This record gives sequence, C-alpha cells and structure tokens, in this order.
Amino acid sequence: VSEGPLAGRRVVVSAGGTREALDPVRYLGNRSSGRMGVALAAAARDRGAEVVLLACAMDVGPPAGVQVVPTPDATALELAVAEELFERQADVLVMAAAVADFRPARVEESKIKKQGEDEGLVLELERTPDILAGAVERRDAERAAGGPDPVIVGFAAETGDDGASVLEHARAKLARKGVDLLVANEVGVDTTFGKDSATVHLLGADGSERTVGPAPKTELAEAVWDAVQALPTPART
Ligand code: C5P
Repeated sequence: VSEGPLAGRRVVVSAGGTREALDPVRYLGNRSSGRMGVALAAAARDRGAEVVLLACAMDVGPPAGVQVVPTPDATALELAVAEELFERQADVLVMAAAVADFRPARVEESKIKKQGEDEGLVLELERTPDILAGAVERRDAERAAGGPDPVIVGFAAETGDDGASVLEHARAKLARKGVDLLVANEVGVDTTFGKDSATVHLLGADGSERTVGPAPKTELAEAVWDAVQALPTPART
C-alpha cells in the first residue's frame, strides 16, 4: 500500500505532443518534449498516487512505476481520456499534452506523391475536438447528476509583453475552460518547449494565484500538485 498525500488517488496525466497523420509516413506535429507531463507523473507517483500517463510523442521516456497508454493523436487521446477519467473514474486529470488544434481533413491511404516539377501542395485542415473542454463539460454534467467529481487541470502557453498580460490571458482562459486549476506557461525566447526549466502561473478556480520559477520542471511539478492538493474539495473526500 502506497503512502503520501495522494495515496489511494488515481491520476491521469497527458504528456508530449500529438502527431496527426497526413499519409502512412507523414504527420503534423509540434515541439512538445513531454518533460512537464513526465515530471508531473513522477511527482504524483512519489506522492503515492496510482498514475496513468497518456503518452503522446515524447523526447523523454516515461517514468518507472506508472501505467503508460500510448496516445499518438488527438483521436486516441480523446478516447483514452474518456476511458481513464470517466469509465475508470480517476480522481484527477492533468492535460499537459500539446494537442494539435488542426489536423488533416483526410488521411491519404498511400504516400502523397510529388506532382509536376514546380507544383506545391495545398493541405486542408480541420479543427480537432477540444479534449479538455469536453472533459470539463462531461464532468460538470455528471457532477450535477450526483456522479463522480474529478479535479481537472489545464495548461496554457501564453505570450505577453509583460507578466501582467500573460496573467490576464491566463485568467480569461481559466474562466473560459472551466478547469479547477490552470497552469500558464510563459512562452519566451528560450523557455518552455524542450527546455528543462520554465516559469508558470498557477491559477485556481477559487481565485488563488501563484507564480513559480524560473525553475526546473521537477520543481514546477511539485508546485502543481501542492496547488491541486490545496484546492477546496467538498465533494471529493
Ligand atoms: O486553448 P488552448 O489550446 O491554449 O488550451 C490548452 C489546454 O487545452 C491544454 O491543457 C491542452 O492539453 C488542452 N487541449 C485539448 N484539446 C485540444 C487543444 C488543447 O485538450 N484540441
């Protein structure tokens, strides 16, 4: 039996970047390294939680002692969130993955061929579902019906000319997404993507705000779990 502040809790963390297939050999992807999600999964494990890592494409390996579910694209990730958060009734979902906002409208069955010498290629993209927003919507509906009430944490990569405007964007996103906690990354010239350290603002739905960093992602992960544990949890004991 594990010990720690998250003992007996089941937590689901998504990490890395989705890859949206164009054809059997190509995809549209992003530069997410998976480091933040992996740090979050390891920290939750060390606090005694049972951890499921929904692993998109990552530059780093998953930590030992967590269950890994490969989720290469947005479709797979959406299914896995439904399964792990709602069917298996997890206590916490942390969406640290960088999910594509757009994907190819069609996946070609065979490799797309070059046409004439000078001919380019126009790709049609469609929106992906907002998995985080969908999870919040379903959680709120189930909560209203007296069902389970998991904590949902979202991430945001924000740019701004100064700290204040990053925070303002983040406050707006917290309200719009309906999450319990929003972790807003300050995207700077040499921070966040692929790096081991970053600065984050932790915004709670209860109005709490805390800025952490620049600090290694392992330290940021501890601050995120501290914030989750500090959330008011009347229905979650
Ligand atoms: O709106 P934005 O993309 O900035 O929100 C980022 C948050 O939403 C992250 O937690 C990310 O994992 C999640 N997300 C999602 N599905 C998408 C796009 C983003 O769950 N299609």
